[in-house]
Amino acid sequence: MDNKITVNGLKFVPYLTEDEIMVQVRRVAGEIRRDLEGKSPVFLCALNGAFVFAADLYREVGMTDSQIAFVRYASYEGTESTGCVRRMTGLPDNLEGRDVVIIEDIVDTGLTADKMINDVKALNPASVRFATLLHKPDSTKTGFKPDYVAFSIPPKFIIGYGLDLDGKARNLRAIYVISED
Ligand code: IMP
Repeated sequence: MDNKITVNGLKFVPYLTEDEIMVQVRRVAGEIRRDLEGKSPVFLCALNGAFVFAADLYREVGMTDSQIAFVRYASYEGTESTGCVRRMTGLPDNLEGRDVVIIEDIVDTGLTADKMINDVKALNPASVRFATLLHKPDSTKTGFKPDYVAFSIPPKFIIGYGLDLDGKARNLRAIYVISED
């Protein structure tokens, strides 16, 4: 695994390897495939952070009749949630009667997840499920529980595999956690 890295003056140490991530991505993909067998779901990737996870998960699910769309929400500045979630680009308007699977990189306070689910439900889908790469259950402000979780983690700041610090480090194949020292 790679060594320590520094981003914007903050130190990060290796946390999850590429292989460990892919094992859990495949497990979650299998659960989604089983739950949505015979349906034609729409996956909704939450930009920016979920783009790497969504690319792997969508291909691992492997349902050729499914579709993928992209929506952009923002709530973080630096390493802290602002508590204010904004939708930056719109939802597709053709979700009525569809089985929707939202794909998110990380559920922290749960505020973004709540807003996304409410926005999707307003479009009268047949069902809404929520898949996240990472879940910080101890940070919740809403009690929200995702349907699919690749990793439950403590409330520490993470980068890599799509997750950023002020837009940086999304390219890292492994996941890194902020260093305690
Ligand atoms: P929530 O609304 O507080 O649940 O935050 C969700 C969003 O905050 C995620 O989609 C990420 O963009 C961002 N976020 C939360 N925790 C982290 C982290 O540890 N690293 C990078 N981004 C994070």
